Amino acid sequence: MIFVTGATGYLGSYAIASLLRESDARLALLVRARTAAEAEAKLWRAMQLHLDPSGFRRLLGRVQWVHGDLTLPGLGLDPERRRALAGEVESVLHVAASLNRRSERACLNVNLRGTLSVVRFAMEVAERGRLRRFTHVSTVAVAGRRDREHVREDEAVDWERGDYDPYARTKKFAEHMARELLPPGTTLVLRPSIVMGDSRRPETTQFDMVRAFCVLADLPVLPMRSDARLDIVPADFVGEAIARLHLATRPAHGIYHLSAGADAESAGAIAGAMAQGLGRRPPRFVPGLGPAFDRLVRAAAVWPRRDAVQRLGALLSVFWPYITFDTVFDNARVRAETGLRPAPFTSYCVPLYRWATTHRFRYPYAELPPAVATAAVQVHA
Ligand SMILES: NC(=O)c1ccc[n+]([C@@H]2O[C@H](COP(=O)([O-])OP(=O)(O)OC[C@H]3O[C@@H](n4cnc5c(N)ncnc54)[C@H](OP(=O)(O)O)[C@@H]3O)[C@@H](O)[C@H]2O)c1
Repeated sequence: MIFVTGATGYLGSYAIASLLRESDARLALLVRARTAAEAEAKLWRAMQLHLDPSGFRRLLGRVQWVHGDLTLPGLGLDPERRRALAGEVESVLHVAASLNRRSERACLNVNLRGTLSVVRFAMEVAERGRLRRFTHVSTVAVAGRRDREHVREDEAVDWERGDYDPYARTKKFAEHMARELLPPGTTLVLRPSIVMGDSRRPETTQFDMVRAFCVLADLPVLPMRSDARLDIVPADFVGEAIARLHLATRPAHGIYHLSAGADAESAGAIAGAMAQGLGRRPPRFVPGLGPAFDRLVRAAAVWPRRDAVQRLGALLSVFWPYITFDTVFDNARVRAETGLRPAPFTSYCVPLYRWATTHRFRYPYAELPPAVATAAVQVHA
């Protein structure tokens, strides 16, 4: 049985959809929900991007609900049930995190305290001699401040380097903690780069980065170099890579970048594809405006009125460093191990832009049809 955190999130849903295809493993899903009905509704919200109601019903047949919260003592689980669960679980897939780059508190609580609790649970599984793998979904942001670099997995964490934000800082220490505390050879660290959209279809349920991309795509002048590379990957590649690496019998490495690597495209190539696809003039690239633009979005981010200007500033100020650091993350390992190669962003950025702007950055969620009864086994916290 695989114990999974973050299944109700964006990448968690992709990982679950791939795990369903790639294995017949049972899944114990830690979900922040008080009842099975609430957990089911949350999971359906995440999974409807991947499954129709009957496919979802089949998924529920493989699911145990674990009602809990990373920030509660002992994950919020009843000690007896926790012991029983530790006797059933063989691997842990830890996807959950706070991506709130502006909140030190949320990042500390979820990414550090929460990961420590998940690691402690995995240690209990290991004490029973059962822990096959602890897969920790991290981020390339652990590489800290970079400028025009090509970063390989084992060189990414540099403790002398500053971090862009609390998210990057806490994710960096969380992966260190897992590797230090768990038995050697059990921890697998997977670091996606910038994840945007799905290469097979335009729909998405995650909008922050997509919104920032669409705002920039509408500007006639871009305050950056046209040859700056953007390491962007689609969620379908990331989900499939997470599942395959988690299930792999003996992965060759302990850390993998789930990234575009040397194939990462430049801002100019992406702007060119957008201009061609939308029938527009390509933007002008004026890198000299970069510092002024940076100051402008930072000022807008702390604008006293919480209006559209403030929201836009907050959004862009968070992502701007990641857009302009012109750094790619080597992906030779994931390509060799899984045979997967991420689709280039230029092959799907236009439909993504069209769909996201037409739908005003909202996914049209459908209610779960009543025919889908609760088939999952409830696990009491
Ligand atoms: N998306 C990206 O571009 C990207 C890039 C690189 C790395 N990553 C990494 O990928 C992982 C997944 O990211 P995502 O984009 O899928 O994030 P997401 O959509 O925000 O999902 C976060 C998940 O974590 C769960 N969670 C948050 N706080 C929790 C808590 N206190 N207790 C239990 N569960 C909690 C959420 O549960 P609820 O449904 O209850 O909120 C949700 O299932 C993260 O580790 C992130 O660092 C993401």
